[in-house]
Amino acid sequence: MGEGELGRAERLINEGDLDGARAIAESVLERAGNGDGAAAAGAHNALGFIAYQQGRLIDAQRAFEQACSTPGGDDDARANLEAVRTELAGIYANLAGGSAAAPAAAPAAAPPAPAPERDFSGTFEDLLAGSFGHDLSPRLLGRLLGHGIGPNLEARLAELPTATSPNERRFLLRYAARIWDGQHDVFENGPLLGGTTRALAIGMLASDRRRPGTLLHTHDWFSSRVSLDLPPDTFDQMAQRGQITAALKQQTVDSGSFQALYDHLHAGQDYSSLVRSHEAYLPGYRGETTQHGEAIFEPPDTTFSLVFVDGCKSWFGTRFWLERMCERIPAGAHLVFQDYGWYSCFWLPALTELLPGHFRLVAYVDDTYAFELLRPIDPRTLADAYPDQPEDLGRDVYDAIFTSALVDAGARADVHGMVCLTIQHAAALAYIGLEDEARHRIEAMRGRPEFAAFRDRFVENALRSPTYRPDGTSIVL
Ligand SMILES: C[S@@+](CC[C@H](N)C(=O)[O-])C[C@H]1O[C@@H](n2cnc3c(N)ncnc32)[C@H](O)[C@@H]1O
Repeated sequence: MGEGELGRAERLINEGDLDGARAIAESVLERAGNGDGAAAAGAHNALGFIAYQQGRLIDAQRAFEQACSTPGGDDDARANLEAVRTELAGIYANLAGGSAAAPAAAPAAAPPAPAPERDFSGTFEDLLAGSFGHDLSPRLLGRLLGHGIGPNLEARLAELPTATSPNERRFLLRYAARIWDGQHDVFENGPLLGGTTRALAIGMLASDRRRPGTLLHTHDWFSSRVSLDLPPDTFDQMAQRGQITAALKQQTVDSGSFQALYDHLHAGQDYSSLVRSHEAYLPGYRGETTQHGEAIFEPPDTTFSLVFVDGCKSWFGTRFWLERMCERIPAGAHLVFQDYGWYSCFWLPALTELLPGHFRLVAYVDDTYAFELLRPIDPRTLADAYPDQPEDLGRDVYDAIFTSALVDAGARADVHGMVCLTIQHAAALAYIGLEDEARHRIEAMRGRPEFAAFRDRFVENALRSPTYRPDGTSIVL
């Protein structure tokens, strides 16, 4: 009975309504009678505190004594009694002309201040600046960028077969609309059929900072001769839905390139004039050329302030790409890595860790992690830090890379990141010949309940093969 009412009395005391509080406490006391000792003790304690607030120290002392002598009287009441007695002793000593005791503290068990009303606010800019800390800001911003977007845009983002999640495409759309500075071009590699191209391009259209003439340059080798990250009957399904003609499907098969199909999918759209597609292969190792004459990647002669990376599928390809790009990406640009949170792509966290002081994590959602470039990447620094092939670094370097990345993922309670980085660490070790250790490390993850949500998608797949070589052969444990 008394608990809730006494809580209200405490609140009234804190609000200064001592009469109201006393009425409640007296009523609790009256009804408690001899029955509820704890309620009676609490009511005496509250009356003592009210008396103390009003300067009636003798009354306060008496009320606290009653609280202490009533069954259920607690440490709070005893501390209050002691405090008020000390204060009175000081007063008596003064009156008698003796030396005053040190002023007593206020009764120790003052009713606690009421909990503040729930109140939280912040702006998009706060999140972007990291104002909620390195742990919360990137996660919250990722959520905000990836949340639902309204039926029309959802339908447009869902129209093209894609290897990305809906959250990731909304994230990209809003990244282009809200974070891209609009002054320089946007870069993409690995568009596949352009689920991500469409998200970026619609976002560019929506940006109120977009300088007229800015473009989205997208790069892929567009080879349909290799298996794509799509269900095998995708082109047939698209022909049945009327998204492509049977002739275009046949042309794709005959030519071995899906670039014409890609261009067709992005023609006749409100954003079409922004998009330029480029055939561009990223070699898997130094000196590699393409069997069917696809062009090797060369960046357009422009500057990019938003860079979306989904085609860096090997260690060397990543280095090759960035060597050519780094002078085109100024400080303040944003780099969004779709595969940073994918378990096999250990070369991407390796890149950000091997260039310390260059990347600030801004936001992440699902497998996609976005960074602000804090200072330009010097090609020589890149060449020194990030060698041609993973075997050029020792295991101690991989231990250091992934320890550092995992400390950060742990600090931001990013379980997805922890799972991926742990596997990526093992994948790097497997790549340089330490397959047994890699297997033990990944097997140990099976027993971790906090990783259960990622068991099928990451852990079990990684146990079959944690990564692959540039020619596509799986590394098997
Ligand atoms: C997983 S898909 C990307 C998914 C895509 N962004 C989407 O919206 O669905 C990877 C893409 O990278 C391309 N790619 C893979 N290896 C490449 C290489 N060595 N050079 C250029 N492009 C490559 C593939 O052709 C494919 O389009």
